[in-house]
Amino acid sequence: MRKTLVAANWKMHGTKAFAEQLLAELNSGLESGNGSSQVVICPPYPYLGWVADRIGQAQLGAQNLSEQPSGAFTGEVSAEMLKDCGARYVIVGHSERRSLYGESSQLVAAKFAAAKSAGLIPMLCVGESLEQRESGKTLEVVAEQIQAVVALGLEDCWESAVIAYEPVWAIGTGKTATPEQAQEVHQFIRQQLGKDGDKVQILYGGSVKAGNAAELFAKPDIDGALVGGASLKAEEFIQICRAAD
Ligand code: G3P
Repeated sequence: MRKTLVAANWKMHGTKAFAEQLLAELNSGLESGNGSSQVVICPPYPYLGWVADRIGQAQLGAQNLSEQPSGAFTGEVSAEMLKDCGARYVIVGHSERRSLYGESSQLVAAKFAAAKSAGLIPMLCVGESLEQRESGKTLEVVAEQIQAVVALGLEDCWESAVIAYEPVWAIGTGKTATPEQAQEVHQFIRQQLGKDGDKVQILYGGSVKAGNAAELFAKPDIDGALVGGASLKAEEFIQICRAAD
């Protein structure tokens, strides 16, 4: 039985003072729940170590990493550095990295491999644009993004890995995929993973709110959420985490 995982992607939001207040509210709110969900908090790089000391029962994640283990790569951050900060998870291939920073599926796959080799749990983001959905290419796009990782031939590739299906047209738009739309893609993703598919937590991301989380989590192949905007509001995020209880 896969445990529900709810991850907060803070993106490039917040200050130390904001984070202090948010974490204080989250900690008290999450402690009073029955804790059936795993919770991961992914703050911006500068706050990783500081947040690590203040997330109570939650676990720490990063939002990106270099595919390189070390070297002359100014501005980059390695998997080992993230581990040193206390990170257990790392988001790879978020659609904003792919669209705004030109990350190809091959580069994302290399980042996935770098995370795995350092003992981090990669959260591989996949998803289609509105144009791709409207032209019926959703499954083709998602398959390509997953196959780029499969092509590396990593041993136990999907062991200790998470996938997040984030339809680009639902990110930050308030337009959430219906539970049926999400379930269809999640089921397809699970089939793409082969023998290890049943073990992998597949999260949905894209305008997840307190009001829609429970019906999403009720679907058999939706194992949680990767939450953006709503994760910056303590009460809303707590309700999303409790939706799985
Ligand atoms: O990584 C999660 C994020 O892309 C979803 O954003 O604001 O639609 O929950 P949001």
